[in-house]
Amino acid sequence: MSELNSLVMKILSPGKGILAADESTGTMTKRLDDVNVKSSQENRLKFRHTLFTSEKMRTGIGGVILYEETIKQEFNGQSIPDILKEFGSVPGIKVDTGAKNLAGSKNEKITEGLDGLRERLKDYYKLGARFTKWRGVYNISEGCPSNLAIKSNAHALARYASLVQESGMVPIVEPEVLMEGNHSEKTCFESTSKVLDECFRELILNKVDLSGIILKPNMILPGNMSKIELTSEEIAKLTIKCLKNSVPEQVPGITFLSGGQTEKGATANLNLINKLNSTNFIMSFSYGRALQQNALKYWSNNIEDVQGTQKVFNHRVEMCSLASTGNWDMSLEQN
Ligand code: 13P
Repeated sequence: MSELNSLVMKILSPGKGILAADESTGTMTKRLDDVNVKSSQENRLKFRHTLFTSEKMRTGIGGVILYEETIKQEFNGQSIPDILKEFGSVPGIKVDTGAKNLAGSKNEKITEGLDGLRERLKDYYKLGARFTKWRGVYNISEGCPSNLAIKSNAHALARYASLVQESGMVPIVEPEVLMEGNHSEKTCFESTSKVLDECFRELILNKVDLSGIILKPNMILPGNMSKIELTSEEIAKLTIKCLKNSVPEQVPGITFLSGGQTEKGATANLNLINKLNSTNFIMSFSYGRALQQNALKYWSNNIEDVQGTQKVFNHRVEMCSLASTGNWDMSLEQN
């Protein structure tokens, strides 16, 4: 087993998933504005530190994706990466510099950040990071995702992944087909298949060791404005079918993004995916909003109540952890 593969297995050890706490300052400010909390450096650290030191981190979270600001922060003299390690998590870092307008397309994005990446990776490694994230984003609409967006983002994701492995870290490869729109689940399936097929074509071309990556895809869902309602079982079956068709079997682990699903919805769907999983892939979570939403809401009203906030977060982590082994049940949910 290669070192990178062992690292993947450590991050995704049984019952564990990933906490995506890598919101850029802009995105975090939006999240904090929504709950009427000032987005100061101090408040961002306070909330994140509260999550990172919650008890269920030890059993349910194998890796935390950080933003550049957070990986360099300290709390009571201890660095954030050291705190994460103490709680049993591998520190990770988002290394792309965001999705920008794609020249040649009216409404699509290309993720940037390759220039100078090799040097930045050395710094992140020194700071304690052992895995990284890069997110490509695709929207579904008339003629989209276009071949241009599919090819450009796959190329960038593969060049990123190759540089990350060269630096001794595990790349999370995240091609996200957005759920915004009134499209059907069939369209989501087709678009996601095309996106994944091109990503793996490029990853192989760039000589990326597939046994040392984590894939972070969207689940197969109907558009959030489509009025189509599917059961978790239907979502799980389509998602598994899509991944089975498009993901080479050397890939050890797949961790889903939540993408705007509710906390319970994302948990129920992951649970069914694991109950029905007919592949050898580890299927777990790498949720941002679906792990943090309720904790953030509680914290915003009780900013000094560390224990109360941790109680809300612990519950969510425990539910996701159970779903990652197919052992979750709706009756375990609180309110
Ligand atoms: P969500 O789970 O909120 O979609 O965030 C995951 C993530 O890391 C998006 O890049």
